[in-house]
Amino acid sequence: MARQNIAAGNWKMNTTVSEGKDLYKALSNHSVPEDVTVIVGVPFLHIGTLLSIKHASIKIAAQNCHFKNSGAYTGETSPSMLADIGVDYVILGHSERREYFHEDNAMLAQKLDAALENKLKVIFCCGEPLEIRKQGTQNAYVSKQLEEGLFHLTADQLKDVVIAYEPIWAIGTGETASPEQAQDMHAHIRSILTNKYGNDAAQDMSILYGGSVKPGNAKEIFGKEDVDGGLVGGASLKADSFGAIIDSF
Ligand code: PGA
Repeated sequence: MARQNIAAGNWKMNTTVSEGKDLYKALSNHSVPEDVTVIVGVPFLHIGTLLSIKHASIKIAAQNCHFKNSGAYTGETSPSMLADIGVDYVILGHSERREYFHEDNAMLAQKLDAALENKLKVIFCCGEPLEIRKQGTQNAYVSKQLEEGLFHLTADQLKDVVIAYEPIWAIGTGETASPEQAQDMHAHIRSILTNKYGNDAAQDMSILYGGSVKPGNAKEIFGKEDVDGGLVGGASLKADSFGAIIDSF
C-alpha cells in the first residue's frame, strides 16, 4: 500500500447488529473522496451481516484476531476465518486489548504474522499511558512497542501495515493530543521507520492518530505533515460525525 489518507472507525463493543447495519448503510451513502480510504472496525458478530451489504467505499476491519488459524482456543476468532469471509483489515494492539486482555508486544508480533500470512491488512496500534507522557519518555516507549511488535517484519510485509498512534490519555477522555504533539510523535515514528527500513518505506507508511478525534479537531490534526488520518472511536458511532471526519481531509 502506498501512503494514503485513512479515516478508520473503531466501534469497539458498541451497537447491536441491527444498529451496526443501519450505521454502515448510512455511511455507505456518504460520498468518499477518491484519495481517502474509509474503514470501520466492527465487532466480530457484525462482520457477516455487514459483508452481505458491503459497499466498496467502506472497508471492514475486525478488532482483533488470534495468532493461530485453528485449535482449542475457546471463544477466539482466527485470521484465516476472517480472511475466508472477505474481511479486509484487522486492528491489532489496541491499548484496550493490551490493558484488559494482557496482550504484550511478543503476542502482538505473533498475531501480526498470522494476520499477514492470511493476507489481512493490519492497523497496528501503539501509544503511551499518561505517566509516561508526564515523564517525557513517550518516544522511547513507543519505539519499544514498535521494535518488539513490528520490526521483525520485512520491508515488503510492512506494506500491508498501517500504524495508529493512540496516546492512552487521549482515548475516550475528550482530551486530544495537540496537533503539534501528534505531529511530533508521528515524525518520531517515521524517523525510526527510516532508520530501520529506509526512507522510501518510511515515506510510504500511513500513520494514523487516535484519541478523541472529532469533527471539530480532525482537520487540524490531519493537516499535519506526518499525520495521514485517524482511528476514531466515539465519533465513529454516528454517521454524521464520522462523515464530517471523512470530509476533513
Ligand atoms: P476515541 O477512541 O476516539 O473514542 O478516543 C479512539 C480509539 O480508541 O481508537
